[in-house]
Amino acid sequence: MAQIIDGKKVAAEIREELRHKAAELYREHNIKPGLAILLVGNNPASEIYVKMKIKACAETGFHSVVEREPDDIPESKVLDYISKWNADPEIHGILVQLPLPGHIDENKVIEAISPEKDVDGFHPVSAGKLLLGLDGFVSCTPAGIMELIKRYGIETSGKHAVVVGRSNIVGKPVANLMARKSKNANSIVTICHSAAGDIGQYTRQADILISAVGSPLMIKKDMVKEGAVIFDVGINRVDDSSAKKGYRVVGDVDFDPVKDIASAITPVPGGIGPMTIAMLLSNTFESAAKRI
Ligand SMILES: NC(=O)c1ccc[n+]([C@@H]2O[C@H](COP(=O)([O-])OP(=O)(O)OC[C@H]3O[C@@H](n4cnc5c(N)ncnc54)[C@H](OP(=O)(O)O)[C@@H]3O)[C@@H](O)[C@H]2O)c1
Repeated sequence: MAQIIDGKKVAAEIREELRHKAAELYREHNIKPGLAILLVGNNPASEIYVKMKIKACAETGFHSVVEREPDDIPESKVLDYISKWNADPEIHGILVQLPLPGHIDENKVIEAISPEKDVDGFHPVSAGKLLLGLDGFVSCTPAGIMELIKRYGIETSGKHAVVVGRSNIVGKPVANLMARKSKNANSIVTICHSAAGDIGQYTRQADILISAVGSPLMIKKDMVKEGAVIFDVGINRVDDSSAKKGYRVVGDVDFDPVKDIASAITPVPGGIGPMTIAMLLSNTFESAAKRI
């Protein structure tokens, strides 16, 4: 039976550490970490994520501002917000909640954020630094996975890590981090995507399996090697008439059967999700601390 990798607990520890560090930064340098968030439209999932981020900021002693704009906001206005926050000394991190409506060029928006305030780690400068192994903001979900690996002492060197999904925000960066020649990484990495066909032939080889697809319960027990460590990034809603809301949230991994043969596994919810927010706070703190 697998050890449950408790992202909720680790995230709470990180947030508590950051709360102390933020108080000290304020006491000694009069700097309060500040995060600015732009939320466009009324996507219910985005609304929930933004609320969680604001609450996390408040609980950690960070300053946050949120601007909400309707779906038809012109791209120029989005860029105006970013210019304003780029120049604001009280803002150390800028986050534009994705996805944006189709008429807005997401890449243009991300590139407008100053790399020094790119706490989501989506800017090409951040992505380039990550690839080169240089210091820079690492996108929050991959950073959360690496932090869990470190804090749980999971052996990665020389292990085969299989990443399912190649998005710019999860799959690609986490694959790069796992392949780095450094402590808590140094893995042999395979990336799978929608053209992989039978992905089981790859996932069955994984000592460490990271799934970031967005397909409910697609990773079945017979696709997992005995003793594998599993990180399930997927967040998927499935209908459930017995649940109060009429749905429940599941990961990409068929948790119950898989936990019987894995050596360690992250649950959904309570695994990677809370870590993503903790790492957003961590990036925002680091950005603020650079102002000293
Ligand atoms: N826990 C968190 O904090 C957190 C953070 C971010 C995302 N997520 C969740 O993680 C999931 C992935 O997010 P994302 O933004 O990375 O998604 P995305 O941009 O939609 O990327 C999904 C990836 O999965 C691949 N894929 C799709 N079907 C596949 C299949 N049958 N076999 C193998 N690969 C397949 C796609 O391949 P192609 O490239 O070929 O299309 C793509 O690379 C979603 O459920 C999202 O909600 C969670």
